[in-house]
Amino acid sequence: MRKEQRGIVPCDHCIITMTTYITTPIYYVNAQPHLGHAYTTIVADTYARFRRLIGDSVRFQTGTDEHGDKIAEAAEREGVSPKEYVDRISGMFRETWPLLDVKPDNFIRTTDPEHVLTVQNILQQVYDKGDIYFDKYTGLYCTGCERFLTEKELVDGKCPDHQTAPDEITEENYFFRMSRYQQELIDHIHANPDFITPERYRNEVLSFLSEPLEDLCISRPTSRLTWGIPLPFDENFVTYVWFDALINYLTGIGYPDGDNFEEYWRVAEHVIAKDILKPHAIYWPTMVLSTGLPLYKKLHVHGYWNVDETKMSKSIGNVIRPAELVEAYGVDSIRYFILREMSFGLDASFSSDAIVARMNSDLANDIGNLYSRTCAMLMKYCDGVVPEAVAADDDTVLRDLAAEVLQRYREEMNSFQFHRGLQAVWELISQANRYIVENEPWALVKDESRGDRLNTVLYNLVETLRLLTLMLQPVMPGTCRKMAQGLGLEPENPLVADLAEHGNWGGMPGGTRLEKVSALFPRVDVKKKKQPVKEQSKKKKSSKAEKKQKQKPALAEGVISFDQFQELELRVGEIVAAEPVKKSDRLLQLTVKAPEERTIVAGIAEYYRPEEITGMLVLIVANLQPVKLMGVESQGMVLAAKVEEGGKTRLVLSTVSGKVPPGTPVA
Ligand code: MSP
Repeated sequence: MRKEQRGIVPCDHCIITMTTYITTPIYYVNAQPHLGHAYTTIVADTYARFRRLIGDSVRFQTGTDEHGDKIAEAAEREGVSPKEYVDRISGMFRETWPLLDVKPDNFIRTTDPEHVLTVQNILQQVYDKGDIYFDKYTGLYCTGCERFLTEKELVDGKCPDHQTAPDEITEENYFFRMSRYQQELIDHIHANPDFITPERYRNEVLSFLSEPLEDLCISRPTSRLTWGIPLPFDENFVTYVWFDALINYLTGIGYPDGDNFEEYWRVAEHVIAKDILKPHAIYWPTMVLSTGLPLYKKLHVHGYWNVDETKMSKSIGNVIRPAELVEAYGVDSIRYFILREMSFGLDASFSSDAIVARMNSDLANDIGNLYSRTCAMLMKYCDGVVPEAVAADDDTVLRDLAAEVLQRYREEMNSFQFHRGLQAVWELISQANRYIVENEPWALVKDESRGDRLNTVLYNLVETLRLLTLMLQPVMPGTCRKMAQGLGLEPENPLVADLAEHGNWGGMPGGTRLEKVSALFPRVDVKKKKQPVKEQSKKKKSSKAEKKQKQKPALAEGVISFDQFQELELRVGEIVAAEPVKKSDRLLQLTVKAPEERTIVAGIAEYYRPEEITGMLVLIVANLQPVKLMGVESQGMVLAAKVEEGGKTRLVLSTVSGKVPPGTPVA
């Protein structure tokens, strides 16, 4: 039974609206799927998953747009029939989505027989109402946009999107009286500030609507184009591609009398990029008004992805294919990166440096480390069993922040500000990592008088992991399945799958037995992608060595000159990851940020456990010649005090007395 029928009335101001219908554009099959299509579809998938997480009944639709000049031309170029051609490319889109863990409820094609009937049904209604008329028209037609452009839209006589001059075409055609609904649309936009977001696109549409609207040409003569849907009232014409394509949003939910139509139309939310704002913000609502239906609920408009600051294009050869991305970086890293990197509404630039940086810092270091350290400590200190929550617990650092972050996360995800939602989640992750360093569970375990303190600290950490699993699920579903498994919970368990019921502190049941899982995000080897540190430091060293030979007199044994001392490049480094070196009891392999990341192998395994030093600021020698220790290349050295006690040596890492950024030089 629907929640509305149970008497809960959805309201525009509360986040929970009970039902959600989210759509992507239906993509033209004249090109194969690329990063741009992937972004829009991942956004819609993430939103669908988020709404399910908060208890909505959700329908998510994507599909392909298969009629029109461009498609007919592409098929001809390949020497196949349009149908054969569209079947092939549409199939590529369908096969891409599972690779990205995108799970639509419906994949619609404009060549589906029921879509053809729906388009003809609506055309007939609009025609009968007197909103379609026949007329002669001369206009500037852009094949790329599949529409006539106005003079105002041209830049240097060319279509700004396709960089081609439009063709002047005169023909008799059918027109839709868009102008009849102009005022009603303006009033609706004013009365519903969230109808088109972000605001910049709402303003753009209102500015466009401040001039009188021209009516919309909705047909092509069959003498010029046959690959389209025949007009029900004139067989010599097929419908213009946009009139056909936009109606997919109704066909897909069974307009006019399907159950899904009843349930979902009023809550329809469309996601598009800025390139198709006008058809969605002007053509579509006026068509809907003419059909006598209520308007869709929201239009969410995002910016464009460029690649290395350059427009993605086949001719430049920089088109990014989703399958290659998944193969190179893994599906959840891609999903996280594109949602975190792009501010919804603005353009963003894709680069492999940027994705590797986020994978190493946000994923491997921050969430990956927090997860593995917490689970490792629970395994070690509690035999892998979650302790009971401590009743009189006045340690509310993580609990208070989690409550605030949960609230912000819900608001930001609900308003398509995914990057801000993720930023909020990362504040909790960073705080939890600091909490480990500050509370030193490895010291508490040795402290006989600690009371319940160790249990409190570990419970707070594991409960934070549960809430993180809940919140990250829409963005990284695969990783969260693994996180849930490691926490000893089935991925379908409401504790990690129902934010409405279990998005409050304290849900993790004491007594749950953790399960060992592999690292969530292995680090990516930056050396392969960037100029190796090795070469840089070698260069520096040799030039200074030459200088030294020329300038320096010999010194007394054991004494160095100030110049010699200055040759040492000392810096503050942050240990962002630490792990034992295989087959060595003495060595730890550290990843140190100073400010670039490097590997340093240090002989401190007898004195420190990896989880104890992760997050610590240490002093390093940054310009040592790299050396291989037990097969691992060490690019520098960490400084430590060498304490001699009772005939034994102990190393105590050097650190700084205040928080300074990694890479700060030591003077
Ligand atoms: N078939 C029409 C849409 C009809 S919807 C009723 C169409 N198809 S398209 O294949 O060209 O897809 C355009 C959409 O693809 C954009 O609105 C956006 O969702 C996505 N993107 C294509 N290139 C993109 C970028 N470079 N960056 C971000 N998204 C982009 O228009």
